[in-house]
Amino acid sequence: MNNRELIEKLKSERALSKDEFTQLISTYTKEDREFAAKLAREEANMVFGKKIFVRGLIEFSSYCKNDCYYCGLRRSNINAERYRLSKEDILRCADEGYELGFRTFVLQSGEDGYYTDEILCDIVKSIKGAHSDCAITLSLGERSEESYQRLLDAGADRYLLRHETANAEHYARLHPKNLKAEHRQECLRTLKRIGYQTGCGFMVGSPFQTAENLAEDMLFIKRLDPEMVGIGPFIPQHDTPFRDEQKGSLEDTLFMLSLIRLMKPNVLLPATTALGTISPIGREQGILAGANVVMPNLSPTEVRSKYLLYDNKICTGDESAQCKECLNNRMKSIGYEIVTDRGDYQELTIDNG
Ligand code: 5AD
Ligand code: FES
Repeated sequence: MNNRELIEKLKSERALSKDEFTQLISTYTKEDREFAAKLAREEANMVFGKKIFVRGLIEFSSYCKNDCYYCGLRRSNINAERYRLSKEDILRCADEGYELGFRTFVLQSGEDGYYTDEILCDIVKSIKGAHSDCAITLSLGERSEESYQRLLDAGADRYLLRHETANAEHYARLHPKNLKAEHRQECLRTLKRIGYQTGCGFMVGSPFQTAENLAEDMLFIKRLDPEMVGIGPFIPQHDTPFRDEQKGSLEDTLFMLSLIRLMKPNVLLPATTALGTISPIGREQGILAGANVVMPNLSPTEVRSKYLLYDNKICTGDESAQCKECLNNRMKSIGYEIVTDRGDYQELTIDNG
């Protein structure tokens, strides 16, 4: 089958074989990418209309006990400035976000042992107590099932944990030995099973990644059946072992966004900050390729320039209100509109697949 036929098949069957994905990802042309984006956008329009969901991102701790080779927050990075936000700081961010119209807060941090279940549950309950109509998404890395359950019971609704790469050998080239692909995937299955709306994801163009690896990521997503998928280009960070590696390409990231949308028409799919970092209109292009979520930063401006996963991260000098306004305008410029809604995952009732 040629690539155009494969893209049509993905849309109608919501699946391709590993070989078919590998062919598509390794040989697609600009025309194929634009064709996939057009179909993916039509799918997203069918499910979400011209509405873009917005999530307020609160990066509450830059401490991390892990040492991932790609990430600027890795514990070996002695140049990283570390900070922790208090419960009061976090609540202030959420209050400010609420005033700006946010109805989902994403609490993200490095894997920081300081935040025990007790502390985190208290934070989750307090945000829910103040804003019962909001959804809380956690993005705290790998924890025990017991911990995930306690946080869910405290009121958390969703959990983001990128699988990073579905291929165990590739995973081992991106992480130190103590981190295992299998454990991460197990965490994702646990999160889904106990009742979180769950998000996995990966970087596009990470070192050593092959088209076959990306095909494996697609099959992994198909199997896990997550409610959310977060992808963005790999971007080197100057204080990490991958400082001299190539960044992921805009085109590859856009193409992968489209393939994910075609495979899962109703998935919640952000146009990420990393995409906005490698191209001035990356997020707009991401939406036009099938994404339906944007995640402006709500972190206090004093700490923003300390949460640097990669180089040249955008929005580190802007106030929350500015980011919201900026994204509003960006979405309007391409005919879309940000909505203030929890933006929960909806099962599809009718599908053409
Ligand atoms: N470039 C792009 N994305 C990165 N992440 C971490 N480091 C980088 C980088 N250098 C992504 C990882 C992680 C998420 C929070 O950020 O996929 O899961
Ligand atoms: Fe933050 Fe544009 S989204 S300034």
